Amino acid sequence: MIEQAISIAFWLSSLLTVIIVALPSQYIPQSARGDNRKEKVTAQILVLGDIGRSPRMQYHALSIARHGGHVEIIGYHGKQLAVFSFLGGRDIITMLTPAVFLESDPHPEITSNANISVVPLPPHPAILQTNNKFLFLALGPLKVLFQIASLWLCLAYRTRPAKYLLVQNPPSIPSLALSSIVCYLRQTRLIIDWHNFGYSILALKLGNQHPLVVISRWYEKFFCGGAFAHFCVTNAMARILKDEFGITGSPIFPLHDRPARHFKPVLDEEERTQFLQSLPESTAHGAELANGDIRVLVSSTSWTSDEDFSVLIDALCRYSKIASAENPALPKILAIITGKGPQKEMYLNEISNREHAGKLQKVTIKTAWLSTLDYAKLLGCASLGVSLHTSSSGVDLPMKVVDMFGAGLPVVGWNRFEAWPELVTEGTNGRGFGSAEELTSHLTDLFGNPAKLEILRKGAQKESLRRWDQEWDPVAGRLLQLV
Ligand SMILES: *[C@@H]1O[C@H](CO)[C@@H](O)[C@H](O)[C@H]1NC(C)=O
Repeated sequence: MIEQAISIAFWLSSLLTVIIVALPSQYIPQSARGDNRKEKVTAQILVLGDIGRSPRMQYHALSIARHGGHVEIIGYHGKQLAVFSFLGGRDIITMLTPAVFLESDPHPEITSNANISVVPLPPHPAILQTNNKFLFLALGPLKVLFQIASLWLCLAYRTRPAKYLLVQNPPSIPSLALSSIVCYLRQTRLIIDWHNFGYSILALKLGNQHPLVVISRWYEKFFCGGAFAHFCVTNAMARILKDEFGITGSPIFPLHDRPARHFKPVLDEEERTQFLQSLPESTAHGAELANGDIRVLVSSTSWTSDEDFSVLIDALCRYSKIASAENPALPKILAIITGKGPQKEMYLNEISNREHAGKLQKVTIKTAWLSTLDYAKLLGCASLGVSLHTSSSGVDLPMKVVDMFGAGLPVVGWNRFEAWPELVTEGTNGRGFGSAEELTSHLTDLFGNPAKLEILRKGAQKESLRRWDQEWDPVAGRLLQLV
């Protein structure tokens, strides 16, 4: 009896020793080590996704590095995205990460910056990859475990303890939980960067009442509780975090997205025409572009079910009808739609049906896949941008509109969500619509009255002067004690 007790006690204490020895090392402030120089800021940035496709997290990294902080950015490289399958089903993968179709490497400024190191998360071992449906379900849990384990190792052991951990949300599972635990163990300050809510994206597909959605909401609410601070993309989102998530113990800072540096207005008329004439999508309209008989309209999409593209197609058909009959003075439209995604084929069929039915006589619709720089230039050269982004939570904002403003391009966009006015000032730099009819009337009004479009263009150009640093330095820079 006594022997058994001693043996159990022995094993328990050994286990405890192992756990204590294996605990991740803690962050110890410089001053606690008797070093009185100005504290060097260290931060980890976690992106549970493709680093290259997360401009905002890259900007955070660049801003911290520019002020002399040291950053470790943790995430996947473009071609490893199969990892999102942890919830099962291809549909959910696409839903969580519409950007899954746009692979890319981290920005060269990141990889070449001496103050930033990239810590890649390992992709699934090939053995967990399968096309067999039954095996897929069986291997699902293994993938989850693999991801949890690799994330844990990375956060707790592969990286040195840092003063801050900035985690992107969503995706929230399992990153939010693991980050909270690691931060607790390492005495690291957790900062959550809210781009949206994981549960509201899930609810788009499953409905608000679905148990997974309810659990996911509870999970986000629970694990955000211990954070040191929160950033979020809109004031409306800050309000929800405060009122509905009940965050009161830690500060919440709205930090609006700003365009990357390569988005800028193209002011020279000749340069605009030349660039448009050189694009394969518009080169057939060279003469019309030169004499202004055709206007270029741009939209970008990831062709997923959360953007109803038929609204734009409908509006263009209506425009074509009006421009052919009632108001022949209206210019033609060349609509260039960029992006890749699952529903592209379906919409291409719809477009070609309408063309064959003669419904698009004054409109040409082209789809394109452009390099980052060409896309930025196209935005700078076009006449009007269109956004069909519908917000899952009502409080996130479309990055494409931010980029359009960066290029000085006025925007008409779907405006039936709460945060829209935080981005677009009606009649100053853009206009909102809630139906194909409304969109048509904006198109006829703006293309029929160049002076009205010019007012919006001036507004958008003014908007393009607002950049990330101005947004970041006074808020995040101060919080991290970098400025
Ligand atoms: C890196 O940090 C140093 C200060 O430690 C700073 O002077 C330098 O400008 C930073 N470099 C970059 C590329 O941000």
